[in-house]
Amino acid sequence: MSTNQFDKKSEAWSALFSEPMSELVKRYTASVFFDKRLWQADITGSLAHAEMLAAQGIIGAADLASIQQGMAQITSEIEAGGFEWKLDLEDVHLNIEARLTQLVGDAGKRLHTGRSRNDQVATDVRLWLRSEIDLIIPLLGELQGALVDVAEKNVDVILPGFTHLQVAQPVSFAHHLLAYVEMFSRDAERMSDVRRRTNRLPLGSAALAGTTYPLDRERVARSLGMVDERGEPQVCQNSLDGVSDRDFAIEFTAAASLCMVHISRFSEELILWMSQNFGFVKIADRFTTGSSIMPQKKNPDVPELARGKTGRVVGHLMGLITLMKGQPLAYNKDNQEDKEPLFDTVDT
Ligand code: ARG
Repeated sequence: MSTNQFDKKSEAWSALFSEPMSELVKRYTASVFFDKRLWQADITGSLAHAEMLAAQGIIGAADLASIQQGMAQITSEIEAGGFEWKLDLEDVHLNIEARLTQLVGDAGKRLHTGRSRNDQVATDVRLWLRSEIDLIIPLLGELQGALVDVAEKNVDVILPGFTHLQVAQPVSFAHHLLAYVEMFSRDAERMSDVRRRTNRLPLGSAALAGTTYPLDRERVARSLGMVDERGEPQVCQNSLDGVSDRDFAIEFTAAASLCMVHISRFSEELILWMSQNFGFVKIADRFTTGSSIMPQKKNPDVPELARGKTGRVVGHLMGLITLMKGQPLAYNKDNQEDKEPLFDTVDT
């Protein structure tokens, strides 16, 4: 079944290698068990690349058709949970490419013409993050809407305003809540701003120095929706930079950290407000927890946990920015470590 394609990574390498990779190194360097999360972006990016290769006459129309058909099958296999992810094939990119080649033969190998995993992974992470940002921005809008609803019902409710946590001047509870609406609106602005710089195409950078194939990068950018407000295609201008920098991921994590800091401040207030000493608000029973040994207690576990998870996201910002700081140009394997913190930031 696998005679005309590589089943093991080392078979794709040069004759320089006289022995197979150690099992320990294989496990240490593999990323497939977390980066398979990028599969959809990987296939989308590959299809755009393949269409461009065909349009430029670099591969034939028959090859393109085979690639499209193979990718459609792989998509259904992954969606149905039947795709076999192999540690031996290191990452999501090699797993999909090997399966494609197994399904459609040499056309599968030609897909990688003028491309490297270095510009491929940078493209995948950008596409994936862009779609996550597009989910996060409306969520921030919903959160603001909920705060505005509560504010509208509480315009005449007076709350002590604090400075130094000392009672200072009376304020409307609505006014207090609307302070958070402002914070979340800046968070959404920051997310849109990060999206703009994330939405640029590294493909065409190849391993680090570009390629002699006559690629049409603008065409790929357009088909992936990597365009600015005026519809102009956005491509990374420098190949060394395109494959190696993860500043867009760092920026995202920084924007997410600020957003979590705002959530954390609000959580802290809810926790204070519902304590017996303040007694300003009640949180519905279904959102609190109790204690069997101290039946008088109602615990604000949800805001406490939100406050706690802020540390986790800020930690990912520190992780990613430190990951970048010592790296010489261009791509280094260090960058494989960008994924888990980024994924966890989005999930959190
Ligand atoms: N799994 C790798 C990563 O996430 C893909 C790129 C690997 N490229 C390479 N030449 N080893 O960074």
